[in-house]
Amino acid sequence: MTSNNRLSSLSTCFLAFIISISSIAQNKSSIIIYPDKAQHIINKHIYGHFAEHLGHCIYGGFYVGENNTKIPNTKGVRNDVIDALKKLKIANLRWPGGCFADTYHWKDGIGPKATRPKMVNVWWGGVTEDNSFGTHDFLDMCEVLGASPYISGNVGSGTVQELAEWVQYANFEGVSPMSTLRKQNGRDKGWSVSFWGVGNETWGCGGNMKPEWYANVYRQYATFMTDWNNSKKLFRIASGASSSDYNWTEVLMRDIPHHMLEGVALHHYSVIDWNKKSSATEFNEEAYFATMKQALLMEELVTRHSAIMDKYDPSKKIALVVDEWGGWYDVEPGTNPGFLYQQNTMRDAMIAGTTLNTFHNHADRVRMANLAQAINVLQAVILTNDEKMVLTPTYHVMEMYNVHQDAKLIPVSITASDYVFGKEKLPAVSASASIDKNGITHISLVNIDSKNQQEISISIPETQHKAVTGRILTSPRLQDYNSFESPYKIKPAEFKETKLKEGFLTTIVPPFSVIVLELK
Ligand code: AHR
Repeated sequence: MTSNNRLSSLSTCFLAFIISISSIAQNKSSIIIYPDKAQHIINKHIYGHFAEHLGHCIYGGFYVGENNTKIPNTKGVRNDVIDALKKLKIANLRWPGGCFADTYHWKDGIGPKATRPKMVNVWWGGVTEDNSFGTHDFLDMCEVLGASPYISGNVGSGTVQELAEWVQYANFEGVSPMSTLRKQNGRDKGWSVSFWGVGNETWGCGGNMKPEWYANVYRQYATFMTDWNNSKKLFRIASGASSSDYNWTEVLMRDIPHHMLEGVALHHYSVIDWNKKSSATEFNEEAYFATMKQALLMEELVTRHSAIMDKYDPSKKIALVVDEWGGWYDVEPGTNPGFLYQQNTMRDAMIAGTTLNTFHNHADRVRMANLAQAINVLQAVILTNDEKMVLTPTYHVMEMYNVHQDAKLIPVSITASDYVFGKEKLPAVSASASIDKNGITHISLVNIDSKNQQEISISIPETQHKAVTGRILTSPRLQDYNSFESPYKIKPAEFKETKLKEGFLTTIVPPFSVIVLELK
């Protein structure tokens, strides 16, 4: 270490000490960012979404049919949705489930639509699925969106051959039974699908398996999922743990040979109580606090699952893929309970902002994630009602944050004041930072406190920034949302409450708001 480095690291420690002492004052938080320690890339695939055949996610959400003359569409997919998701820079899209995936037989969804077999969607409302949206519809739509497809294979009720043939159908460029069938169905070139899930929630709706059993099943399925002559390698993702089921991750990492495994999944929903989820819009502070406790648990979950993965895979070859996350409440009154349709408030913006910060800060291991779900289901970024479309607060957070995609993570240390509710407390402030290819630094800040603003001082040692601009997402009430009647109630606005001087940035973040700062 040179004397200059030693001096600068001593001064950073001193700075941290001074800042943390002064942060003991109420509603003052401090952050130090470490540009010299930037090392890992925030994988853009953390910004993935999820489209299940569930309620009105696919039908009415993405897809309205080729013959629809009321809603402008491209090959049946809504143009307004395409535009909105392109602006979001949607990185990948997971399909066709979820629980639905382990009931889905992909050959039912190819060929002439009029003759496709119908099935019952047993998990979601018992409705009839006519298979009018199938493999071609999904993969062509991903091309239009500029998103990488992530196909979730049927392990629960499918066969090894069925999944192997799906891979061949989607990817093989030579002459084979499946590539010939694809060509007969109008698509010459394969889609080069890289991301493949080997079952979903195999501990539950995907087969109620034990981890040891599933690890063996995975090995069998993965054996026949072939790369073919693709330039893109297959990225196979094992069905992962539910929240804190650490044993599940342990067994998969121990029992699956690592050359057969590119990712291990994790699912975690911010649900208060599975038997009493409570309203998405009419909630009190107790419910809000309980939801945020579940959302912030993501930090502990990814830390502990990653630690297990580190034990078996110290070089971090295998990614932790959080392919289902988000808030889960009661369905909107009067809607089908099996359709999981819920509104989306500033509470959801808090879940999105804090969760994405967590993913960024674990960029070394968390390299892919999927918000559940994209449209009209759970914590959606888009709601549709016939020809109307609404962008939710969650959409706006993901759009504001997309500046971090593929940027280099700048580690941060945060001394946050507490958000206190009754006898409990949570850290009020969450943050992450990155530097992009053009040398621009972005800092994302979330204040989850429902009542108090946060005065935040950010120290940025050893860098020279001359200008700061920002955007904020906030609203007068935590329960506020965008409705079809008032679709622009909540939207990002310019944020000017910042002062930048000699390596210090100070700002005031209002209660329950999300801010992204840009430093040049
Ligand atoms: O996202 C809704 C459901 O939640 C998915 O189908 C399933 O994987 C999870 O339990």
